[in-house]
Amino acid sequence: MTIRNPRLRCPPRSGVGSLGTMLQSAVPPAVLPQANEACWCGSGRKYKRCHKPLEGKVLPGVISPTLTVPEHIERPPYADTGIVQRWAEDRVKSPEVIERMRHAGAVAAEILRLAGDLCQPGVTTDEIDKAVHQMYIDRGAYPSTLNYHGYRKSLCTSVNEVICHGIPDSRPLQDGDIVNLDVTAYIGGVHGDSNATFFVGDVDPASRDLVRVTEECMWHGIEAVVPGRPFSDIGRAIEAHAKKHRYGVVKAFVGHGIGQQFHTDLQILHYYDPRSSALMRPGMTFTIEPMITLGSPQHRTWDDGWTAVTTDGKRTAQFEHTVLVTDDGVEVLTAPGAVSPSAPWHR
Ligand code: MF3
Ligand code: CO
Ligand code: CO
Repeated sequence: MTIRNPRLRCPPRSGVGSLGTMLQSAVPPAVLPQANEACWCGSGRKYKRCHKPLEGKVLPGVISPTLTVPEHIERPPYADTGIVQRWAEDRVKSPEVIERMRHAGAVAAEILRLAGDLCQPGVTTDEIDKAVHQMYIDRGAYPSTLNYHGYRKSLCTSVNEVICHGIPDSRPLQDGDIVNLDVTAYIGGVHGDSNATFFVGDVDPASRDLVRVTEECMWHGIEAVVPGRPFSDIGRAIEAHAKKHRYGVVKAFVGHGIGQQFHTDLQILHYYDPRSSALMRPGMTFTIEPMITLGSPQHRTWDDGWTAVTTDGKRTAQFEHTVLVTDDGVEVLTAPGAVSPSAPWHR
């Protein structure tokens, strides 16, 4: 969820208009030019001044037509318009809402785990979206992201330097990629939101470390959930662990209150800010979803208005759970069946 900073838009890399876009999405040849030679795209510029910086980077693919959800599945209020109207929702949920959130959380967790198994070289993120879309339907759930502020797909797929909100498209996953799948299920009138970063084939050690530490960051955040303690404890725990490993913490996207609404006004920062002095109370539900970077945590957004990438092109990872503050600690609503190799109960 973007909240704190307005969406930062970058000007297009080369000129404006369809020619620039067309040239950028053209397929590079098998043998690439030397840095000082003319770029293969025909722009007349040196390769190093044109397409070289994009070498090995994720490029936008083709986005397929939007899928539909059968009528018998309950839809959130924005499903038909794409317009999200917020209302004041109690931060402390009733036992009855909590029970429904346990179910929505379990559904999201199961779909995320099954989706993770699809992350193989050659599989497109669009194919993952299609399979996941059917998984929601099979479980009687609506894919919360579908038409949320106009978003067109049933999950987010964020590869390598994509921080979050990557849109499934025609790009096949490549051996060595890391891909975050973010699954949110709406069922029983409530949302369950969870994500994890998966390895595609053989992944280099630096990326593996990043993914492991990012999951640890999330669990440190979750373990800081204690009734009576301020929300700032969560960000402090996450940031301390990331810093220990000399990684960056993305500040522009935050965790959020969740329940009958996908995102409520409650913000969960993944870094320390003493102003997050409100206290956690039993019955509150929110997500913890740190995005951790190998390099700079600054982002820019693609022209699609969604895809957030690191400005330096270095890799980034994310994990997310929906949690409930209990009388004596925390319950992870999206944990049943979840992918969590570094969860506290495995340590
Ligand atoms: N699931 C994301 C989150 O963790 C939000 C995705 S919103 C979308 O908050 F519109 F990009 F799908
Ligand atoms: Co979330
Ligand atoms: Co999410």
